[in-house]
Amino acid sequence: MKALILAGGTGSRLRPITYSMAKQLVPVANKPVIEYGIESIAEAGIKDFGIIVGDTGPAVEKAVGDGSRWGINITYIPQDAPLGLAHAVKTAQPFLGDDDFIMYLGDNLIKSSVVTLVTEFQAYRPAATILLTPVPNPSDFGVAELENDRVARLEEKPKNPRSNLALVGVYLFDRRIHDSIAVLKPSPRGEYEITDAIQGLIDTKLDVRSHIVEGWWKDTGTVDAMLEANRLILEDIYARNEGEVDAASKIEGRVKIGAGAVIKNSIVRGPAVIGANCRIENSFVGPFTALAENTTLTGTEIENSIVMGDCTIEHTPSRLANCLIGRGASIKREQGMPKTMQLVLGDSSSVVMP
Ligand code: DAU
Repeated sequence: MKALILAGGTGSRLRPITYSMAKQLVPVANKPVIEYGIESIAEAGIKDFGIIVGDTGPAVEKAVGDGSRWGINITYIPQDAPLGLAHAVKTAQPFLGDDDFIMYLGDNLIKSSVVTLVTEFQAYRPAATILLTPVPNPSDFGVAELENDRVARLEEKPKNPRSNLALVGVYLFDRRIHDSIAVLKPSPRGEYEITDAIQGLIDTKLDVRSHIVEGWWKDTGTVDAMLEANRLILEDIYARNEGEVDAASKIEGRVKIGAGAVIKNSIVRGPAVIGANCRIENSFVGPFTALAENTTLTGTEIENSIVMGDCTIEHTPSRLANCLIGRGASIKREQGMPKTMQLVLGDSSSVVMP
C-alpha cells in the first residue's frame, strides 16, 4: 500500500498566513500540521509516500524533506492547479499505479491511529473505506448518509445536509477509484470532488465501508480550528526542559522547553511549548500556547496562541489571546505621545482591540 498526502490547494481561509506559507506547514504545538499525518501513516508500516504540491511545493519539500527521518521515501508530485481532491488523485496516478493507497489531507489532524484501518482494508478488500464523524456544521464538509450501516449517499458541502456525519480527510482506496475519477464532472464549485468519485463507486454497487472516528478530528483550515488543534495536541504533551529557567521564574504544569531557550523572571503555565532559542523575560505565557524557535517575549502576556518563530513581542498593553502570529512578526509598544497604534498588516489580516 502507498500513501498520498495532499498539500496543494490555496488555503484561502487562513489568509494572510497562507500568502507566505503553505497551510500544511503551519506549526501546531511547534510541528507542521502535515507531519502528524505522515507520522501516523509511517507507523502503519507504509514506506512509499507521494505528496501532492501546488505553488508552495518548494517550501513543503524543504520543510518535510525526503522522508528519511521517518524511514520512508517521499515523491513530490506537482499539481498544475488546485482543481479538486479527485484531480489530485488523477495527477498522482503514475505514482500510484495499480496499488492500494491511503489518502490523507495534509491539513487534517486525527488523534486515532490509522493502523487498524490499514489492516482491515487489507483483510476485507473493499473498493474504499471512508472515515466519518458527527459535526455540528455538516454543510462545511462532505456529508454521508448511512442506511443500516452501509454508505448510501455522499454529498459535498450540501446546503441541506441529510445527516451530521462529515467525511474526515482520510480515505483508503484500491485501483477502482481511478475508473470512477476518469468519468467525473466538475462540481458546482468547479472542483473534481473525491466525494463524487466515491459516490460513483457506490452507484456501481462496489463495497464502500465507513468507520466512525474515535477521538478528535480537526480540519485545520481556519484560524479557530488551527488554535483548537493546537490545544488538542498540547493536551497530550510531556514536560521537558532543555533550556534555562532562572530562580525568579515559575514553570507550572506540563511545559516543553527547547534547547537554548532562556526564561527569566516569568511564569509559564502549561500545557505549552517553548521552541529552541526563545527568550522570555518579565512575561507570562499562559496555557495552550506554542512559541516556535527564536521568539523573544519581553514584558508580555500571551495565552492560547500560536507564534510561528523568529518573532519579537515586547511590552504589549494587554494580554494577547487566541492569536495566530506569522513568522518574523514584531509587536511592540511605544511609550510617549501621541498615543497612536501603528499597524503594518498584510492583506486579509485581522486585529481585534480591547
Ligand atoms: O477536511 C475534510 C474535508 O476535506 C471533507 O469533509 C470534504 O469532503 C473534502 O472535500 C475536503 O474539503 P475541503 O474544502 O476542506 O478541502 P480543501 O480544499 O481544504 O483541501 C483539503 C486538502 O487537500 C488541503 O491540504 C489542500 C489539498 N488540496 C486541495 C485541492 C482542492 C490539494 O492538494 N489539491 C487540490 O486541488
